[in-house]
Amino acid sequence: MKVFVAGASGALGRPLITRLLDAGHEVWGMAHRPESLAVIQSLGAHSVAGDALARDAMFTILGAIRPDAVIDQLTSLPRSPFDLPQRLPADRKLRLQGGENLLDAAHACDVQRYIQQSCGFYLDGGHVLVTEASPLKLLAPGHIGESARMYAELERRVLGTSSLQGIALRYGFFYGPGTWYWPDGAFSDHLHKGKVSIVGAGSSTFSFIHVDDAADATVTALTAPAGIYNVVDDQPTKLSEWLPAYAKWIGATAPHYLDEKEAFSLMGEESIYYQNNLDGACNQKAKEVLGFEPQRLPWMSDSR
Ligand SMILES: NC(=O)c1ccc[n+]([C@@H]2O[C@H](COP(=O)([O-])OP(=O)(O)OC[C@H]3O[C@@H](n4cnc5c(N)ncnc54)[C@H](OP(=O)(O)O)[C@@H]3O)[C@@H](O)[C@H]2O)c1
Repeated sequence: MKVFVAGASGALGRPLITRLLDAGHEVWGMAHRPESLAVIQSLGAHSVAGDALARDAMFTILGAIRPDAVIDQLTSLPRSPFDLPQRLPADRKLRLQGGENLLDAAHACDVQRYIQQSCGFYLDGGHVLVTEASPLKLLAPGHIGESARMYAELERRVLGTSSLQGIALRYGFFYGPGTWYWPDGAFSDHLHKGKVSIVGAGSSTFSFIHVDDAADATVTALTAPAGIYNVVDDQPTKLSEWLPAYAKWIGATAPHYLDEKEAFSLMGEESIYYQNNLDGACNQKAKEVLGFEPQRLPWMSDSR
């Protein structure tokens, strides 16, 4: 299959290229910085320089390649999750506007299949594990609600068309090389510096996913039935449990607790919501349909 990956040099894009090539696909990877294009080439894919926000260019690029499938992994997120608030407007613009340019160009070029990165951690399960039928948390406060509404729009767009097979992959929190959650990642750096606290009870449930597992599931999704898949690990875990275990794993001191009142005055309502109202996700459909077998979280003991 001829596969075009937008956002090919990111934390997920890189292992995705390798796995697509291993599976025998011919791969074009798009990025816009010269150093990222070199990375894509070194992985063995055709590199394509392009700015997703330049609408005409997307039509020209896809028109020249005529791929069978397009995978949208466009993001514009910061190196550190603590810088998210400043970067989210640009990220939303890239995903909504750049992604729309890409999708429209894919339609115009008769692309058969379109895979969209979506989110498996801002879903509303009413404090139980969310399924593919669960809605996004559209009414959540601040950036969480804004991001949830963005993902809902991305999903609506890709699933709401009959002229191509649309797939939305609801990835959990990425961990692994090049992500925030890795010994050399920005979240670990903040933990080492004592800048991370557990707010209130820390009762949010997190579903993570290693970027290699996310890449495997994405390759399989190229030939799976259209629709939504939760691409998350087997260990949905409360923040109050995984965060101390993570700290221990990287050799940092366990984070201290902060009561909600103090957190509200220091960081606002969103921090309380983020740490106490997120639901984990169920991966049963991905396991059954995609044959998905995620690895175990390296920071949790095997007894779980
Ligand atoms: N589910 C999750 O938990 C999740 C999801 C996404 C990201 N993240 C986290 O966010 C952090 C950064 O993510 P990342 O590695 O994916 O980010 P990244 O390295 O910035 O990758 C984003 C990709 O989009 C491309 N891109 C950005 N703007 C573009 C534009 N205007 N036109 C065309 N391409 C454009 C980038 O190309 P260039 O390299 O040329 O800029 C790159 O290929 C990581 O820690 C990751 O774990 C987490």
